[in-house]
Amino acid sequence: MTSNHIIVLDNRPQGEATTSNFKLITAETPELQDGQVLVRHHFLSLDPYMRGRMNESKSYAVPQPLGQVMIGGTVGEIVQSLNPKFKVGDQVVGMGGWQNYSVVDANIVGALRKVDTTNVPLSHYLGAVGMPGVTAWYGLVKIIAPKAGETVTVSAASGAVGSAYGALAKARGCRVVGIAGGKDKCDYVVNELGFDACVDYKEHQDAASLSKALKQACPNGIDGHFENVGGMVLDAVMLRANAFSRIAVCGMIAGYNGAPLPMSNPAFILMNRMKIEGFIVSEHMEVWPEALHELAEMIASGKLRPRESVAQGLAAAPEAFLGLLKGKNFGKQLVKLV
Ligand SMILES: NC(=O)c1ccc[n+]([C@@H]2O[C@H](COP(=O)([O-])OP(=O)(O)OC[C@H]3O[C@@H](n4cnc5c(N)ncnc54)[C@H](OP(=O)(O)O)[C@@H]3O)[C@@H](O)[C@H]2O)c1
Repeated sequence: MTSNHIIVLDNRPQGEATTSNFKLITAETPELQDGQVLVRHHFLSLDPYMRGRMNESKSYAVPQPLGQVMIGGTVGEIVQSLNPKFKVGDQVVGMGGWQNYSVVDANIVGALRKVDTTNVPLSHYLGAVGMPGVTAWYGLVKIIAPKAGETVTVSAASGAVGSAYGALAKARGCRVVGIAGGKDKCDYVVNELGFDACVDYKEHQDAASLSKALKQACPNGIDGHFENVGGMVLDAVMLRANAFSRIAVCGMIAGYNGAPLPMSNPAFILMNRMKIEGFIVSEHMEVWPEALHELAEMIASGKLRPRESVAQGLAAAPEAFLGLLKGKNFGKQLVKLV
């Protein structure tokens, strides 16, 4: 048995989430049963979807239960094993949650995946070569399905999903334009991620002004857009959308605290004969192997060099998570646990 630090959801947020919604507790890990392994987590992934799980409202997934370990993706190493398929020292990705160790029944299909860190750093299996990367891949390849030469855009462009999207879209011969908050993030999106342009939405008070900046960055209009934010950003994109354009609706982070996010001009959907499709990446497991293969190659070859924001130690997770919901992260938000 091993002493474990665990962060549980203590109470549900009323409006904005706060650190007092979480509680850090200590407990022993249970004794291993046949088929189980003990995983020591090296990194915990913090992701915007966790905010939705903190609410009790109806959604595509069940709410995070109170008093139980917060849900979360983890990478780590096997430190004890009663499962012949996993040996001590194997590096694995799983859903270990906000804690230092997890006991996992490794016979459950998909519970743990062994990963190879020869060419891909362990932490990237929570970002570009993990759920966020596959999310970018699905929205781009399966919904937007761009042709070479088309212009595609993405909001939250410097983040975990946005950065992978840029590399995948450039590889398909698109003009890729990001939308991000602040000069530093926009400079990074263009100079380091290789986007063709990036528009800083914080320089604009309203959708009309943001849309003018998008017109400059997208002189041929927008053929495909990947929405991570909603609100003013989506309204501005709608004003520049071409006939038969496609929007992959991935996230609406501007509304995760419960504020309504109205859409100003839904009539453009009709006028431009647009396709707008929402999706949840975990409902498309069939594409994961192909997407992960492409993303791992991009990392190994240096075509995708994603940035990470790394908080130190489990106790730092709540603050880092709240920062993510305000754009304080710069790239994939992780917590280093070892
Ligand atoms: N549908 C799915 O299956 C799926 C899977 C994974 C992720 N997602 C969604 O994809 C989006 C991006 O996720 P990620 O993991 O890559 O996160 P991320 O981009 O690494 O971080 C979130 C970013 O969102 C922006 N943001 C935060 N609060 C905002 C606000 N109030 N208004 C406008 N922008 C705000 C910030 O960027 P700026 O500083 O540039 O504003 C922040 O850095 C999220 O909406 C997430 O929910 C969906």
